[in-house]
Amino acid sequence: MKSFKLFDSKHELMERVGEDGRSIVRIGEKKICLVLNQGEFHAFDHLCPHNQHSLLEGAINYKNEVVCPLHAYRFSLKDGSECEQRTRPLKIHSIKIENDGVFLLVKD
Ligand code: FES
Repeated sequence: MKSFKLFDSKHELMERVGEDGRSIVRIGEKKICLVLNQGEFHAFDHLCPHNQHSLLEGAINYKNEVVCPLHAYRFSLKDGSECEQRTRPLKIHSIKIENDGVFLLVKD
């Protein structure tokens, strides 16, 4: 797991995700979705493991799953597993908000 500083403060993070609570950051070749849902930040790979559709606009349901807009596969925001194991798990990353900035911990 690698750590990347994204922002100097939580305020900058809030500005970045904006009113819709969503944004994408690029880490090298990788794009990662940042989503604010019910006061909690989530970070996960931008592309769905099933057929590489963007998950940026995927709804977050009451089970804390991101729902892919293309075929409605549902991925746990805790461990990335698809609810019916129809495809490989989504990579879930971590956001740490510290006094010296906001960090993204990216799984390899
Ligand atoms: S591309 Fe996401 S469920 Fe098929």
